[in-house]
Amino acid sequence: MFTSIAPRYDLLNHLLSFNVDRLWRRTTAKTFAHILRRPHSQVLDLCCGTGDLSLALRRQAARADAKIIGADFSHAMLQRAAVKAVGPTLRWIEADALSLPFPESSFDLVTCAFGFRNLANYEAGLREILRVLRPEGECGILEFGEPTGLLGKMYRLYFKRVLPAVGVVVSGVKGPYNYLPASVARFPEPQRLLNSIRQAGFREASWRPYTFGIAGLYRAKK
Ligand SMILES: C[S@@+](CC[C@H](N)C(=O)[O-])C[C@H]1O[C@@H](n2cnc3c(N)ncnc32)[C@H](O)[C@@H]1O
Repeated sequence: MFTSIAPRYDLLNHLLSFNVDRLWRRTTAKTFAHILRRPHSQVLDLCCGTGDLSLALRRQAARADAKIIGADFSHAMLQRAAVKAVGPTLRWIEADALSLPFPESSFDLVTCAFGFRNLANYEAGLREILRVLRPEGECGILEFGEPTGLLGKMYRLYFKRVLPAVGVVVSGVKGPYNYLPASVARFPEPQRLLNSIRQAGFREASWRPYTFGIAGLYRAKK
């Protein structure tokens, strides 16, 4: 599914979110500046897609020597990421988030933007993140949410009706942009996911809403 939308993925992201997705990734990257600017930090950006969060993390690291790896299981997505940037501090790896090819305690920071929701097993995903994090390492999961109230009603109308219609026309494929609102609707609410994060063994779990809760950042520590 992700491979089928890779050619138009960036365009649709920016178009359908009115460019707010860029702000969400930038804010997420800023949140972890204290790790990114530390000497010799090792960072893993899971489900990196075309690499926009990895690149935001790289920019936030500024002149520090943080090594960032973007991992995704869609080759087509990674090909697009590699066109944007590649070098000694930013690498792309084809890997399944549920079975990562890294030894335990490898990373100071693991991030995941709009990818976690798609995992076949959230508990297994959290266990894998915990395994590859170093003690005191941090995790940041940026995901969609569902705002409540009047704004929530308007948002749902847009998300369930307008967005899939535009997505189908621009991407040329039918499934993925119908799947998007369905996958957000079945995603656990923040308190439930925070419980799962704690049960997986993380501490200091928190959630910060972005743009009235349309998206939000889950944070936790190993
Ligand atoms: C909605 S895109 C998000 C891409 C990017 N992080 C962003 O912010 O735009 C979700 C990505 O997760 C990847 N993905 C989904 N399940 C995965 C898994 N089990 N392992 C690795 N990548 C996965 C897909 O291939 C896709 O590129």
